[in-house]
Amino acid sequence: MGLAGFNPRSLSAKILFLGTSFTFLLFLYLYTNPAGFLSSIKFPSGSGFNFERIPGRCPPRAYANGRWTGPHYRTHNASVMTDKAQALAFAGFTGCASSREFDWHLAADNVEQYPRFPNAQSYTWDVGPSDGCEGFEPLDKARVVRDMVQQGGWLLLGDSITEGHFFSLSCVLHPHVIATPVYTPNSYFDRAWPQNLYLNPDSPLLQEKHFALPPGFNITGTPLATFRRVDLLFTQDNLTRLHATLHPSTAANASFALFSSEAAWSLSPKEYLPLFFDGGYSTMVVSTGGHWTTTLFGGAYAQDAPAPARTARQGLDGVVDFFAQAMQRWADEVQSALAEAERMDRGARKRQVLVRAYLPGHDDCHNILDPWTEVHTPKGASYNWGSIWRYNEVFENLLSGSGAQKKYPDLHYLAIERPGRLRPDAHTTGDCLHIMAGAGVMEGWSHYIWHYVSNELGRGRHSRVNTAAAAR
Ligand SMILES: *[C@@H]1O[C@H](CO)[C@@H](O)[C@H](O)[C@H]1NC(C)=O
Ligand SMILES: *[C@@H]1O[C@H](CO)[C@@H](O)[C@H](O)[C@H]1NC(C)=O
Ligand SMILES: *[C@@H]1O[C@H](CO)[C@@H](O)[C@H](O)[C@H]1NC(C)=O
Ligand SMILES: *[C@@H]1O[C@H](CO)[C@@H](O)[C@H](O)[C@H]1NC(C)=O
Repeated sequence: MGLAGFNPRSLSAKILFLGTSFTFLLFLYLYTNPAGFLSSIKFPSGSGFNFERIPGRCPPRAYANGRWTGPHYRTHNASVMTDKAQALAFAGFTGCASSREFDWHLAADNVEQYPRFPNAQSYTWDVGPSDGCEGFEPLDKARVVRDMVQQGGWLLLGDSITEGHFFSLSCVLHPHVIATPVYTPNSYFDRAWPQNLYLNPDSPLLQEKHFALPPGFNITGTPLATFRRVDLLFTQDNLTRLHATLHPSTAANASFALFSSEAAWSLSPKEYLPLFFDGGYSTMVVSTGGHWTTTLFGGAYAQDAPAPARTARQGLDGVVDFFAQAMQRWADEVQSALAEAERMDRGARKRQVLVRAYLPGHDDCHNILDPWTEVHTPKGASYNWGSIWRYNEVFENLLSGSGAQKKYPDLHYLAIERPGRLRPDAHTTGDCLHIMAGAGVMEGWSHYIWHYVSNELGRGRHSRVNTAAAAR
């Protein structure tokens, strides 16, 4: 997954390649825009110098065009797993800041599945110019942390898959972050509890001469990342009301219920948008799909069902149609709130929302021990897994376009599910939907999101300006 420097055998080749690509890009940039280049080098006062980054040209689909290579073992290649503590080293982690369901997240909680180590942790997502992806730099955790401090943190909203992403991020950024709350093994916890990553006061980064905290940044009070459990992006009550306005006949029907009693956790945008605007974040990452099932949405009706059929449940088509209508409302509400927030704080902080494509599970995952080279779609997949592409397509259609053609300028769809779709071997021990931390899948999401906000969205080019403005 390009976690920098894990593989000494290929490191020098990577450095050579990076050096060559950088020189070429620099040449191209200088040649085409010499004045722009000179004005782009900034030496902000008081905090060392900071070269403006060259804009990336690795859109989400180009990133997803790559391939898994390996296994590249990070430990002696004859290593076998005899102790769950080895999981960290196999994955190339120095530790994980989060303490929630530690062994479960690392898939180290079942001795019978120890033989999956270290293979599942030893593949690298390889992508480059021949995939249409330029300027995608290796993940450098110190730079990610610096960027989160200076440009604003990440608010991760989603279901238990996003919770796994948060755990993985707590490993990727270790030891520069600490996590709250502290979970003790087998103690009670509530899935609704917010989880945060803060800058570790003992991080060596704080000793660096050029590392300056922006004005207003509070080490114990400004999270670098937060997870909130939001399965549906709206509350069930919000969705019940929306459904009733779309299908008035159901509203008048006392025996109709949109939802079954299946458990789900959710918040309304009225709750999480203020958190996003006031918490020092600049990136909100959402992902939803897995809980939009016919079992939870027992009563969802199809939008275009012929009139007589509207009294009948419409199965998955009904759920997907309702999802499309709800997500359009969501995009309208979030984009107008973003515009309002930007107006209120006079553009001091640019905030953007990324919708990460949802990732279906792989049936029979524990019997597949290697990555795939192409996506296989089984007939008769479990749950709504065979239709996840339809939920993703809803977001892709809503958020597509560029420039003036883009209806929601600050909402972006990241079609980066393909690396995960190629990893049936990368699931947790107990099911085939959740993904193990350390296999490269969720670490790749963090890597790409960092690239996307810093380069594709150009945040790295404006961070100093924004930090100065935020000090007002
Ligand atoms: C690693 O594995 C390869 C192929 O299985 C073998 O040839 C090589 O000797 C091994 N290296 C070490 C250090 O065990
Ligand atoms: C920093 O955050 C902590 C925890 O939220 C809070 O107790 C403290 O008062 C904050 N410090 C400042 C200077 O705002
Ligand atoms: C969603 O629910 C929240 C909290 O109950 C409420 O404040 C908000 O107005 C609702 N939004 C919509 C669109 O129904
Ligand atoms: C009312 O809802 C129930 C449950 O969905 C359904 O079986 C019934 O046909 C509905 N009645 C009418 C008049 O639509």
